[in-house]
Amino acid sequence: MSATIADPRSPRTAVRRPGPNLEKWGWVYMRVSGVILVVLIFGHLFVNLMVGEGIHGIDFAFVAGKYATPFWQWWDVLMLWFALIHGANGMRTITNDYVTHPRIRRVLVWAIGLAAAFLILLGTLVVFTFDPCIGIENSTTEWLIEMCAAQ
Ligand code: HEM
Repeated sequence: MSATIADPRSPRTAVRRPGPNLEKWGWVYMRVSGVILVVLIFGHLFVNLMVGEGIHGIDFAFVAGKYATPFWQWWDVLMLWFALIHGANGMRTITNDYVTHPRIRRVLVWAIGLAAAFLILLGTLVVFTFDPCIGIENSTTEWLIEMCAAQ
C-alpha cells in the first residue's frame, strides 16, 4: 500500500499594507475603552441609583443639578464618546464578519459610522448647551426657581 504524501503548503504571504495597522488599534481600543467604561458606567449607576435618595431622587432638577457642574458634564460626555465609539466599532466588526456582500457591507459600515458621529455630536451639544431655566414656569423645585430668578 503506497502512502499518500500531501503537497507542501504554499508559504504564508502576509498582506501587510504600509502605514498604521488600524485593525490592531481597533482591537486595542475595545480592551482599553472596556476598562474605562466599567469605571464610567458603574460610577454613573452608583451615583444615580445608590447615593442619597437613590432612584427616587431622579427628576429634572437632579439632572439640572448634575449638568450645572463641569465634572458631571465631562463624566457624561466621556461616557457617551467611549461607549458610542466602542459600540460602533463592535458593530463594524460584527458587520465585517457576517455580511458577505461587499457593497452592502460598505453601506452598513458607513451607516454605523454616520449614526455614531451624529449621536456623538448631538449628545455633546446637549450636555454642554443644556439650560435648566428653559420651561422653568412648570417647575415646583424651589432651588431651581430661585436660581433661575436670580439670573
Ligand atoms: C462595562 C463596559 C464594557 C466592557 C468591559 C466591554 C468590553 C468589550 C470587549 C473586551 C469587547 C471585544 C470582544 C471581542 O473582540 O471578542 C467588546 C465588544 C463589543 N462591545 Fe463592549 N464593553 C462594554 C460596554 C459596551 C457598551 C456600552 C456597548 C454598546 C454601546 C458595547 C458594545 C459592544 C459591541 C457591539 C461589541 C462587539 C462584539 C463582538 O465583537 O462580537 N460594549 N466589549
